[in-house]
Amino acid sequence: MVDPTTVQRGLESVVALESRICFIDGKEGRLIYQGYDIRDLAASSTFDEVAYLLWYGRLPTATQLDDLRHRFRELRTLPPELAAQIDQLPADANPMDMLRTSVSTLALFEPGETKPGASSIGGAQRLTAVLPTILGQFHRRRAKLPPIAARPDLSSAAYLLYALLDREPTELETRALDVCLILHADHELNASTFAARVTASTLSDLYSSITSAIGTLKGPLHGGANERVMELLDEIGTVDRVEEVVKAKLSAHERIMGFGHRVYKVEDPRATILREWARRIGESKGNLRYYDLLRAVEQVVHREKGLYPNVDLYSGAVYTQLGIPPDLFTPLFASSRVSGWTAHVLEEYEDLRLIRPTAKYVGATDLAYVPTGQRG
Ligand code: CMC
Repeated sequence: MVDPTTVQRGLESVVALESRICFIDGKEGRLIYQGYDIRDLAASSTFDEVAYLLWYGRLPTATQLDDLRHRFRELRTLPPELAAQIDQLPADANPMDMLRTSVSTLALFEPGETKPGASSIGGAQRLTAVLPTILGQFHRRRAKLPPIAARPDLSSAAYLLYALLDREPTELETRALDVCLILHADHELNASTFAARVTASTLSDLYSSITSAIGTLKGPLHGGANERVMELLDEIGTVDRVEEVVKAKLSAHERIMGFGHRVYKVEDPRATILREWARRIGESKGNLRYYDLLRAVEQVVHREKGLYPNVDLYSGAVYTQLGIPPDLFTPLFASSRVSGWTAHVLEEYEDLRLIRPTAKYVGATDLAYVPTGQRG
């Protein structure tokens, strides 16, 4: 029996459920998807293959991967009503609000997937395939670009870049984004995944669960830190100002985004991989400014606070160098994490137990009710 007087604030260290999808070794700085080390997946795999791995628990054969890619391409198209709705949203809408609303609207057109407790791999594939189109539709309209073409020849990563940049991405650019998508695909019981599982645990449907997750990812302590990192770099400007700006922020007890983690006590392995990609993409564009600034920020923050970089420190630099606007960083995160969210929801349905923690009550219990007219 759990001690009802002890509160685990933020549910820190509480083991809420069993899962075989993702393991984080916070002491050794390892991240494992279904038994595979993220470093091997980032070196050799693709996002499409990782999505299969998260859902099915094993790597696909060549035919299975081909089938999944084919499915993704078929499932990219939006219902015309949803495309029209996105076009009517304010062009300056927060893209995460747009994404959350669009997934919620999509559910209305796919009733088979939204019966209470309905869970199908088909819904997981549909959501993973369609999020890039939703983002592309929104971004292209506000950028006054023509509507997105289906492009059945492109992988998920290349399609996303094509939708956002309106040009053919290079092989290096596609690989960089593919690696980013792999690294963001899952992360055990992070807040948005937990929100998705809580929703699913009431026997609600997959689309409602993903709508909850998108709303949760929107918060700056979860998604969005990479946007703030890029703002910091703009504020710093040049490497010789790093020491002064970062120290001033730390003295003012400000948090430096892209550092620290609830689970990792050493460097987040995703940061190690993304550091290298920030350098590679910078080199390919002939500009290592972001990389140099971030290396300098890292040194000061580590020396002053002993904090290590997390996934958000270098991802913003990779996205910016790929030409992706900052307000799309978190929606991009969602386009990847939707594979993990859906895998977790499917797992939740397999062994369902209503998630319902308890609170330590610290309010009054004996107040006398005074009728409205008699209150002072
Ligand atoms: N900058 C400065 N100080 C920090 C930072 C930071 N980024 N992170 C933690 N600290 C300090 C904090 O002030 C506190 O110091 P003190 O004990 O003196 O008050 C101490 O470290 C412990 O902080 P905490 O908030 O109790 O630690 P937590 O485990 O709850 O925080 C965190 C985890 C990610 C919310 C936090 O490190 C943070 O706010 N980081 C910046 C935001 C960020 O980069 N978010 C992205 C996280 S990675 C996303 C993902 O994995 O999906």
